[in-house]
Amino acid sequence: MIGVFDSGIGGLSILQALRAELAGEHFIYVADSGHAPYGERDAAHVQARARALTGHLVGRGIEVLVVACNTATAAAIHLLRAEFPALPIIGVEPALKPAVALSHSARIGVMATRGTLESDKFKQLLASLQGQAHFVLQPCDGLALAIERSVQASPETDRELLACARTHLEALGPLGSQQIDTLVLGCTHYPLVAELLQGLAGPAVQLVDTGAPVARQTRLKLAEVRGLAAQTDGPQGQIELLSTGDAAALQAAARRWLQAGVTVQPLQLP
Ligand code: DGL
Repeated sequence: MIGVFDSGIGGLSILQALRAELAGEHFIYVADSGHAPYGERDAAHVQARARALTGHLVGRGIEVLVVACNTATAAAIHLLRAEFPALPIIGVEPALKPAVALSHSARIGVMATRGTLESDKFKQLLASLQGQAHFVLQPCDGLALAIERSVQASPETDRELLACARTHLEALGPLGSQQIDTLVLGCTHYPLVAELLQGLAGPAVQLVDTGAPVARQTRLKLAEVRGLAAQTDGPQGQIELLSTGDAAALQAAARRWLQAGVTVQPLQLP
């Protein structure tokens, strides 16, 4: 069993990649929607939530944990590793290194939550790449929430999402082949609306996310833990979806992005 959590539906972008890589595995996904968004809250809140969610998933008997949230990885992964030393934990971080390799202009935009961009972990990552590219950082306040709301797919939520995405892309400055030509989607919610972002950014800009590398890393970790290969094929494994908030929203999101008709279970986790 593989445990996965995020503040809400964003981690479904990682779960999509995990299922593509590890089709036969059993996944338990928790959306912490009752305590979201994480990105504009302080680190102490995110750390407390990460501990509570991990404790619950460990109680369920998971073999590996994927923290499918950049904000929670930045704020809490070191604490989780200290507190649960026997549990292999895989985190996600904005894909700055792959972006450096892909960019021709060496100008890279980074879209992420305020919490991620202000974290020490992110600052260290940025410092490790000093001189290799020029990074323009954009804290995308409200964007993860607008993506959560867009699951309702009403004209109003669509307008709100479009306006929010446009504001943040414009704030990055000129985009294009001689300008910012690579955009890092440094929050797991953003790949869910990659089509919208690509349309606004234009065809000369490439979007980079971390779903596929995280899934590969999880496959390797599972093999290491078990001493044998993970379930990469065979019949589709089970998915359990749990939500600490709006179960209907997670269910609708899973239908849309995972093509999975799974019933979401409510989870009370103070
Ligand atoms: N999906 C999360 C991330 O990757 C955070 C969204 C939020 O709750 O602000 O950072």
